[in-house]
Amino acid sequence: MTKRILSGMRPTGKLHIGHFVGALENWVKLQEEYNNFHLIADYHVLTTNTDTSEIYKNTIEMVKDWVSAGIDPNKSPIFRQSQIKEHAELHLLFSMLITTARLERNPSLKEQVRDLKLDNITYGHFGYPVLQSADILLYQGELVPVGEDQASHVEITREIARKFNKIYGKTFVEPRAKLTTFSRLPGLDGKAKMSKSLGNTISLSDSPEEIWQSVRKAVTDTKKIRKNDPGHPEVCTIFTYQKVFNQNNTEEIEKNCKSGALGCVDCKKMCAEKISTYFEDFRNKRSELNKNPELIKDILNDGENKARIVAKETMEKVRDAMKIG
Ligand code: TRP
Repeated sequence: MTKRILSGMRPTGKLHIGHFVGALENWVKLQEEYNNFHLIADYHVLTTNTDTSEIYKNTIEMVKDWVSAGIDPNKSPIFRQSQIKEHAELHLLFSMLITTARLERNPSLKEQVRDLKLDNITYGHFGYPVLQSADILLYQGELVPVGEDQASHVEITREIARKFNKIYGKTFVEPRAKLTTFSRLPGLDGKAKMSKSLGNTISLSDSPEEIWQSVRKAVTDTKKIRKNDPGHPEVCTIFTYQKVFNQNNTEEIEKNCKSGALGCVDCKKMCAEKISTYFEDFRNKRSELNKNPELIKDILNDGENKARIVAKETMEKVRDAMKIG
């Protein structure tokens, strides 16, 4: 049987190039070999924001991005977590299998508390990885292609699967995270992570002019002030982007930056051009999709029907194993 992949994202609006190289690109490649399920984590959004007014709109924008990037909804069902009741049910059962001490050690939570400057968190936010474990195991996902920031959640998923199997008998496989080569892309401001809440992103659907305006202002090596000053590519965000989007020329760029032959403005022009070309097909597909809003609704409907069947099967197994059937 073809192995199953489960991965997802929170619908926070248009995706950026960090999402693409961190996860989405991997999903597209892997759908040839695996049976992919792609989840829209619209319940997870509520962990940090109780305002629901943008969730649907953001969901539609995100699905457009996924499909334009190459996810084939006929092969790989796309569905909203909130439309499959079994997520809530399995989340509840899993919440009995993990201690609060373990959840307190979750590094992603610590990072969020720091970045969003939270002085208190809700019960639901605390249980974020428990819901994510239910997401993954409901579809018996064996591989979870995600960015580096999600690896700790997959680790918790493995622990919950192990604990369940130990108590109630073998029901789940322990899933593995699959990271991309560039699982964390730095932001335009030089911060370690590109993130919408930090305002340092390039959107996948940005026009070539918008890409240039963003790249132009990006932070580079602060020690390279004049064009001919020797640079330090290893600390430069633009050099990281070159390594991702301009792979064939990185050696040359590195050499010329270090020697002072290549100035930052020329390097940035080249970088912006490469990023624009990289996403040209994407932009074309996306503008086609914009003309057909009904299509996205159909994609969700179809994906949710397919997901529901699998989720139901798993819950039957779970209830049998727990003798609460
Ligand atoms: N937590 C993930 C994110 O913020 C989204 C997510 C929810 C997810 N459920 C998942 C990712 C299951 C992988 C598998 O991006």
